[in-house]
Amino acid sequence: MGTNKSEIVGSATENFVVTTAHKASIAMKEDAIKIAKELGTVFIPRRKFREYIRTHVVDFYYVAEEKRLVIRRDRTILFFHPSLAKIRRKNIRMGQRDYLLEALKLQGSERILDGTLGLASEAILIASNLNDKGSIVGLEGSKHIYMIMKWGMERYESEKWIIDALKRISIRNTLFSRYARSQPSDSFDIVYLDPMFEHPNMASSSMNPLRAFAVYDNLTSRDVEEAKRIARKRVVIKSRIEDSLFKRIQVDKIMGSRKSGVLYGLIEV
Ligand SMILES: C[S@@+](CC[C@H](N)C(=O)[O-])C[C@H]1O[C@@H](n2cnc3c(N)ncnc32)[C@H](O)[C@@H]1O
Repeated sequence: MGTNKSEIVGSATENFVVTTAHKASIAMKEDAIKIAKELGTVFIPRRKFREYIRTHVVDFYYVAEEKRLVIRRDRTILFFHPSLAKIRRKNIRMGQRDYLLEALKLQGSERILDGTLGLASEAILIASNLNDKGSIVGLEGSKHIYMIMKWGMERYESEKWIIDALKRISIRNTLFSRYARSQPSDSFDIVYLDPMFEHPNMASSSMNPLRAFAVYDNLTSRDVEEAKRIARKRVVIKSRIEDSLFKRIQVDKIMGSRKSGVLYGLIEV
């Protein structure tokens, strides 16, 4: 997987620190120090952590573990795990329709921009349907989600199809609007956008740890115009059935199931 130098964006007003798991190895400690430096915060050795949070305001904290980088905030824990991509691929293999793949109409060699990477579940699913000529650039506006994803995606070493898919995805810490404006016309085949829903499904337990860190910008008509300008073939936008997105933004076709409440709007350019 290729990654680009972090272009840190986001709020500087949060109180967060970086520590390691108990019984930290030298490597874990080195990772934690590097992450703290990159995020512009402090590294607290684990043996001093309890005392630190007793005497300082800490909203959330990173923990460098042996195989994972996690963020702990209240009772939630955010880390990279491709479980949603696995479930979705299994369902497709069992014959279930996947409206995202239907809307994308992939041939295999496309260059795709996923403007809202999140947990990369859909980017992984899409990348697993590309051949060696195909690639995805994934954008994540939150520096914390980006950090967790970059760390986890670079070190993933379990299922081969996921490792292969990850090699086709490069990620950047930037906002879609900022990135799109810097791109020449027709620089991607497809642009995919999945902004945070106005009416989220809170039962989606895999998305819940991400919510506190996510960018909640509304997709504007200017964003969609930019998406159309940089896409050579099509733009696909995801929304929930209750949301106002497809009332504000004109699409050519809406696909999806009423039962799931998830819709994909398709714009052919
Ligand atoms: C609904 S989630 C995307 C989920 C993703 N499709 C997946 O399969 O995991 C939206 C993500 O995009 C990010 N985001 C929202 N608006 C953005 C924007 N304008 N630019 C970049 N990232 C954005 C949020 O921080 C969040 O992580």
